[in-house]
Amino acid sequence: MPLLDVRNLTTRFHSRTGVVHAVEGVSFSVEAGQTIGIVGESGSGKSVTCYSLLGLIPQPPGRIHSGTAIFKGSGQGGGIDLLKSSEKELRDIRGKKISMIFQDPMTSLNPYLRISRQLTEPLEIHEGLNRVDALKRAIESLEEVGIPEASKRIHSYPHEFSGGMRQRVMIAMALITKPEILIADEPSTALDVTVQKQVLDLLRERQKALGLSIILITHDLAVVSESCEVVNVMYAGRIVEQAPTSELFANPLHAYTRALLKSIPATHEPGASLYTIPGIPPDLSEEPEHCSFRLRNTIGNADRCLTDRRPELTEVTKGHFAQDCPGCLEG
Ligand SMILES: Nc1ncnc2c1ncn2[C@@H]1O[C@H](COP(=O)(O)OP(=O)(O)O)[C@@H](O)[C@H]1O
Ligand SMILES: [Mg+2]
Repeated sequence: MPLLDVRNLTTRFHSRTGVVHAVEGVSFSVEAGQTIGIVGESGSGKSVTCYSLLGLIPQPPGRIHSGTAIFKGSGQGGGIDLLKSSEKELRDIRGKKISMIFQDPMTSLNPYLRISRQLTEPLEIHEGLNRVDALKRAIESLEEVGIPEASKRIHSYPHEFSGGMRQRVMIAMALITKPEILIADEPSTALDVTVQKQVLDLLRERQKALGLSIILITHDLAVVSESCEVVNVMYAGRIVEQAPTSELFANPLHAYTRALLKSIPATHEPGASLYTIPGIPPDLSEEPEHCSFRLRNTIGNADRCLTDRRPELTEVTKGHFAQDCPGCLEG
């Protein structure tokens, strides 16, 4: 049984002007020690998927309409359903067993508190350490993520660190209670390429050291290729393709996946112009009864895209799932 098994997650936002179908029928699982990727353009539902798991969706306007997310943490019996847990249960899991790095570092770090306080607090709360021991562990945790002069720097405020160093502090903070799963929401997006690589390398290194599972969210398929064992490609609130990474890159099926691959700069001949997916993602306030990618599908055959029903994720070859829209699978 996987460490985390998410089935049919549906999260919507209800407002006076209508319903936003942010996440519809999303299923994936994470094995112990595994890294899985969730990839898609901005607005495809990646963050909402992960917020839903941790009880971080503002309700209202958000509502989890359906689904289960069975987390089989160590020391627990049959596993618990995160989507049906109380706020108190989730508080114990958040930060302790499942940690998250947010897209914006300043969401995780309090600008008014010294790093030392922010790192020691969870140790005092979750593990009952005293101040001295907590500070010692906190300094070690900064050393583990490569912060130089950790015992001095720990007394700084977040703004005193560079972007890359701040990201390292966030990783230290997320891992300080030795969680079983780390959800990393675009952990490298705001950083320049060199620092981005360092952060991803650091995540991999910490993963090995801790036997951690990682859910890596990114809009960049190139990031996934190096880090993840399994990829989930999300479009308009749904998973359109899911496969082991090597299989996905060798044999991409869905037109959206192929379009994302085509827009990776590194796959281009020098001097060739970069492919960009035409148009914009669909408005999620309408529940489509057709293929959502049709109007942007220049790689498959848009003429054959479904217009009379919604595509469904089906297993095409063993372990390789794709939405069954003929127009998106063609070519
Ligand atoms: N609090 C909210 N209220 C209303 N709509 C929201 C809220 N949070 C997210 N959404 C909508 O949910 C959809 C998915 O968003 P998100 O998961 O943040 O996308 P991604 O992380 O893939 O960029 C978007 O259309 C977004 O506008
Ligand atoms: Mg996001």
